[in-house]
Amino acid sequence: MVVSLCIVGAPGAIGQRHTQHALDEPRCVLTCVVDPTPAGEPFAAKHALKLYSSLDDMLAAREAGHVTVDGAVLATPNATHVPLGLQLMQAGVHALIEKPFSTSVESGRALVAAEKRSTAKIVVGHHRRFNPYTINTKKLLDSGRLGNVLAVQGTWACLKPVSYYEPPTEWRRARGTGGVVLMNLVHCLDLLLSWFGPVSRVFCERGESTRGHDVEETGACTLRFASGVVGTFVFSDAVAAPYTFEGATGENPLMPHYGEPTYTVLGTAGSFSFPQLKLWHYASPEHAWHDPLVQDEAAPVDATPPFTLQLRHFLDVCEGRAEPQCSGEDALGTIMTVEAVLKSMETGQPVLVGTV
Ligand SMILES: NC(=O)c1ccc[n+]([C@@H]2O[C@H](COP(=O)([O-])OP(=O)(O)OC[C@H]3O[C@@H](n4cnc5c(N)ncnc54)[C@H](O)[C@@H]3O)[C@@H](O)[C@H]2O)c1
Repeated sequence: MVVSLCIVGAPGAIGQRHTQHALDEPRCVLTCVVDPTPAGEPFAAKHALKLYSSLDDMLAAREAGHVTVDGAVLATPNATHVPLGLQLMQAGVHALIEKPFSTSVESGRALVAAEKRSTAKIVVGHHRRFNPYTINTKKLLDSGRLGNVLAVQGTWACLKPVSYYEPPTEWRRARGTGGVVLMNLVHCLDLLLSWFGPVSRVFCERGESTRGHDVEETGACTLRFASGVVGTFVFSDAVAAPYTFEGATGENPLMPHYGEPTYTVLGTAGSFSFPQLKLWHYASPEHAWHDPLVQDEAAPVDATPPFTLQLRHFLDVCEGRAEPQCSGEDALGTIMTVEAVLKSMETGQPVLVGTV
């Protein structure tokens, strides 16, 4: 089966990447794109693709048999994910929804409920779950070689240019739908949840504002996971630093590859930093502290881009051959943690995180 796809928000920053991956993938055919702005027409013409100016128009054309669409990628601003996702679920069109899944727990729950009523499935675009370093981290954690994992430490820090927040993409600094927590920390939290399970309590101190926007730029969190693991996480999009997941792994073709460590995972029998993934441990259980630790070599990493692996997984879901690896419910757990981080920054108090 060749799956028919539509990219919604195709000329946008990440929509262009989804479009290119879909064009390169032999298992699918890109039958159309959707975009309401003047950028849509030249973009569609460049790739010889059918263009609709709204999701409503595309779904009406699909209903009338003018276009085939089995699955759609939502590469649109954060606040549109739930309303557009609801339309796709109602029409029975599978959805690959960019992160964040929703901008609130309440609206995310409504979308999960709509998926349950639909014949279609949702995959959430936390593509880092398909990153080879992430996959190897999970294998290392599951190997039991760290003993009892007690703590994790993480950083996501870089400098976004002023233009990132200027029109036509000022939605990225809109309170409640933009900001570094919903845009970037959400990815890191999703990874931590996929490694250590749900977070039960967070506290987050808000850092100083350098741009004068309403939304946060910098923060420092403590995290308690239900499993007992404790963590700290510092994030900022306003500092000159190489400590991002993207810079660590080299996964984003538009960003330099530095390879600097961004996470440290600490267990009773071993520890490692990410993306190095070289396990530090003692040569025998009798050793400690004053003895030298030894370090294992890291496992080799697969070179297939995570976006390619995510797209192929979405095609498997569209074909009914796989269940979503990052489902709406999984992503809702991440949104619950995000919402707690934002609330803690606002109130200055620790916040308990509920369960999905
Ligand atoms: N997975 C990742 O690594 C990653 C990276 C960047 C952005 N994102 C996410 O992707 C989404 C888009 O981000 P971006 O930076 O590409 O945004 P962008 O503003 O550059 O692009 C958004 C596109 O959506 C279009 N659009 C807006 N409203 C629409 C609507 N109602 N119907 C159809 N199209 C509409 C815009 O015209 C534009 O082309 C965001 O949710 C963001 O968080 C994910």
